[in-house]
Amino acid sequence: MLTIAHISDLHVSDSDFNEDVFLEAVDEINALAPDFIILTGDLTNKGYYTQFEKVKQYLELFDAPIFAVPGNHDARNLGDETFEELIGEASWKLADKENKFVVIGLDSSLPDLNEGSIGKPQKLWLDHQLDECVINELFTIVAFHHHIIPIPKTGRERNVLLDAGDILKTLVDHEVDMVLVGHKHVPNVWKMNNTLIINAGSISSKKLRGNDVNSYNIYYIDETTINIVLKKVGKEPISLGQYPKNVY
Ligand SMILES: [Fe+2]
Ligand SMILES: [Fe+2]
Repeated sequence: MLTIAHISDLHVSDSDFNEDVFLEAVDEINALAPDFIILTGDLTNKGYYTQFEKVKQYLELFDAPIFAVPGNHDARNLGDETFEELIGEASWKLADKENKFVVIGLDSSLPDLNEGSIGKPQKLWLDHQLDECVINELFTIVAFHHHIIPIPKTGRERNVLLDAGDILKTLVDHEVDMVLVGHKHVPNVWKMNNTLIINAGSISSKKLRGNDVNSYNIYYIDETTINIVLKKVGKEPISLGQYPKNVY
């Protein structure tokens, strides 16, 4: 059994960050003891160096290893460079040969823009990695910040990934098991063919829609099933569905 916590959109800042909620979520996730945590962007609100320094301190509160990609807010004010200096590579691959799974992180941010794209060089690299995953029959997760399909209850559609069509085609054709994204601050699950496309809500941003509250997702993956759980901070877990694992 693999347990993954998926957190997103911290928005660390003096204005938009709810520290109390964040610290409560840290306690909940540490008690859960996931194998690792995927963080899908918007770690900071403005990409400032001082905000990234604070993010670093906050992320050290988690017991489990964290793998993060940047969001549009992180790419402001030279934050794209600061991310790589203080947090880590913006694109990466985590491979566990023993447990036969791969997680690929992609940078969908564009400096000082809200729009996002994966771009041709990253797509070429992604195609190559996914070919290998198919050949080796690996359970595959791909994570990036911008949503790739519009999300309900988010108002007017604005910044779905600019190259969403081409990236979606690659992900679905390679039967990527799970695509993890953030950005909209609204949790959601879409399934397209054999690919689950899962948004996490915001774990600690004050920018929420309607009466929504801060949340994150938990995934329990065993031999046959992917169990998706929405965890609103301080509330009981809610099932977002159990899906059969792809058989190769
Ligand atoms: Fe955000
Ligand atoms: Fe965002």
